Amino acid sequence: MRIRVRTAGVSPVDLALRAGDSPSRDGLALPHVPGADAAGVIDEVGAGVAGFTNGDDMFGAVDVARLGGASAEFAVPAFWAAKPSSMPWEEAGAAGTSAETATRALDLLGAGEGTTLLIDGAAGGVGSVAVQLATARGARVIGTTRPESHILLAGLGATPVAYGPGLAGRVRALGVPRVDLALDVAGAGSLEELITVTGTATVVTLADFTGPERGVRLSRGRYGGEPDGRHGLALAAALSAEGRVRIPVERVFPAARAAEAHAAAARGPRQGKIVIDLAGMRGAG
Ligand SMILES: NC(=O)c1ccc[n+]([C@@H]2O[C@H](COP(=O)([O-])OP(=O)(O)OC[C@H]3O[C@@H](n4cnc5c(N)ncnc54)[C@H](OP(=O)(O)O)[C@@H]3O)[C@@H](O)[C@H]2O)c1
Repeated sequence: MRIRVRTAGVSPVDLALRAGDSPSRDGLALPHVPGADAAGVIDEVGAGVAGFTNGDDMFGAVDVARLGGASAEFAVPAFWAAKPSSMPWEEAGAAGTSAETATRALDLLGAGEGTTLLIDGAAGGVGSVAVQLATARGARVIGTTRPESHILLAGLGATPVAYGPGLAGRVRALGVPRVDLALDVAGAGSLEELITVTGTATVVTLADFTGPERGVRLSRGRYGGEPDGRHGLALAAALSAEGRVRIPVERVFPAARAAEAHAAAARGPRQGKIVIDLAGMRGAG
């Protein structure tokens, strides 16, 4: 499937490449088209794609292994879902990898009705979606964020706590009977505290490569040979249409200011994703 892109989120892959800390950077061919997430209008449907047709609005993500390709006039998504008309384009453009990753992590943890889940890094791109999808599954969610984002996080459905050293004590102080599961989205060195809080090793990390040596599962999706969470996109779309999921977006930049968009995303702190509007580039509505 090929789409004419309207909006594209600035992704962690872009930021890692910019910071020069990706092992794949040396293999990057220049000129490079950044972006993993995109939303747009289907322009061409290939063999084997059912249920979608030219002119449909959709959102999704390109193959992350390509390290880019979404912030372009056209993109070829690797997974996607139909965009509900009620879902704003800027949210749709930023939703793909976050919905996939959050769904994969929640599936691995077994988050659902009756479970209490602690998410470290809960206000970020992946964390904010994980909070809402976990809540929709019936889980109780406690999430960490900086103090300025506690209201944002509470609005997404989580009980906010501050991140950083002493996390286990702050969670205990909430008086929650038990925390069953923990998800480390931030990779900020909290794994031992998360293990202490859950009292077990029912912890999954998305960003701390020391996880396996502590008995913590490091989820890497297709890189780790795991089932992916692409089924989460259709669910996120359905929940968005019901007003139960939203993708926090900090700012939308026109394509002509894409470099500023990347700088803003890298600079932080943010309250949501940075998105590039490519429709404006063509003067489209
Ligand atoms: N393994 C995978 O499959 C996979 C997939 C996607 C992403 N990732 C990785 O997951 C990570 C997060 O991605 P993202 O898109 O959610 O990034 P993001 O939007 O930049 O969010 C990161 C969050 O980390 C929080 N944070 C900063 N310092 C912290 C600390 N000391 N303790 C706890 N939280 C802290 C920030 O919270 P505040 O805003 O409250 O300061 C921020 O919201 C990245 O490293 C990315 O590469 C992994």
